[in-house]
Amino acid sequence: MRVPLASSGLRKCDIEAAAKVLNSGNLTMGNEVKNFESKMSRYLGAKHFVMVNSGSSANLLMIEALMRPSISKPKLNPGDSVLVPAIAWPTTVWPLIQLGLNPLFVDVDSKTLALDLDAAQRLIESSRIPVKGIFPIHPLGYAIPPSKLQDFTSRNDLILINDVCESLGSWSEGQHAGSVGIASSFSFYFSHHITTMEGGGVATDDDEYANDLRSMRSHGWSRDRTDALEWNEKVSQNDSKFLFVSTGYNVRPMEIQAAIGSRQIEDIDLFIERRRRIAKRVYEALEGSDLQVVGSHTLSQDALSSSHSWMLIPIRITSEGAANKKTEILHILEKAGIETRPVLTGNFLAQPAIQRITRHATDPDNYKVASEISESTFLVGAHHDLEEAQIRHLCETLQSISIIP
Ligand SMILES: Cc1ncc(COP(=O)(O)O)c(C=O)c1O
Repeated sequence: MRVPLASSGLRKCDIEAAAKVLNSGNLTMGNEVKNFESKMSRYLGAKHFVMVNSGSSANLLMIEALMRPSISKPKLNPGDSVLVPAIAWPTTVWPLIQLGLNPLFVDVDSKTLALDLDAAQRLIESSRIPVKGIFPIHPLGYAIPPSKLQDFTSRNDLILINDVCESLGSWSEGQHAGSVGIASSFSFYFSHHITTMEGGGVATDDDEYANDLRSMRSHGWSRDRTDALEWNEKVSQNDSKFLFVSTGYNVRPMEIQAAIGSRQIEDIDLFIERRRRIAKRVYEALEGSDLQVVGSHTLSQDALSSSHSWMLIPIRITSEGAANKKTEILHILEKAGIETRPVLTGNFLAQPAIQRITRHATDPDNYKVASEISESTFLVGAHHDLEEAQIRHLCETLQSISIIP
């Protein structure tokens, strides 16, 4: 029996919604995208949601819109330093480098796998480089408490942007992950909490910033902005459909993606509840053994004030010689049909791309927790489509290889 890390997540109703769009002939960004965006704003409690073609594009636009706003002064300038976690996804870090910013890596917290704010404070106090922003990842379904982010950013006068690509449907202190700061990015890649096959978007409460995201996702034109008329009046000699007010890309989503997203978001609570139940079953199977579910402290919390959305399930080997033991365990799991993977990219500083291509690399061994997690921790699936027999197989296999110390 196979227990995959990912599943397409598409149901009959999603495919029917996509077919309806294909038959309508309205294929490129239009009303379906607008409809999905308003559903996402409502769900997240954000004033704006701007859909794009991936979570990576969402990250790129979030940074570009801070550096090249069409009206106000830039909030970040080339050369500015921005804090990022040492266990990161590449397209959290690459937009900073691509746009001339300086990513400053911070070790992660072993209990949550998120950027360690105490380590970040020490770095700011010991570093002579002024820091302008922080771009934390809310990892694998864990929402960083908003009060901690708020305190840290106000104390250090930092711009906060959130990567929530792995944590739709999670919240902390009664708020969705990423609800403090200027904006947060989401991914709807297949296997995530909801899917649009490929897809992503940015949530923000800032009107000008949202307008800039709308321009930047589509060549820099003014068409989709709420202030498009004002721009037209200012520059009346131009054809208003071909008025360009910012830098831009083409990272527009398609109507079929949005139509699927609109069906999926209606069932998000059900999906999260199923993922939560799988994580709980795995936790119970391993309780007291040398295999520990990272994030299990959230399982006992009141689900209304705080909820982990379990993108995947991180399992840490707590006994001696974890690195060797991990190779052995992964081999047994893969042989039993249970797919595994590293925690994001592992210690990102140890990746050849960051070491070879950029001048921002420092010794990966400086990030002790990230290195320890890379050696001792792996992920198994928690997809809401897993069936009872698969969940039982996962729990029994894990239990059979765990050791009660
Ligand atoms: C933390 C994080 N940021 C960004 C992304 C990029 O999202 P996408 O695959 O939609 O481009 C991912 C991918 O899952 C991710 O895990």
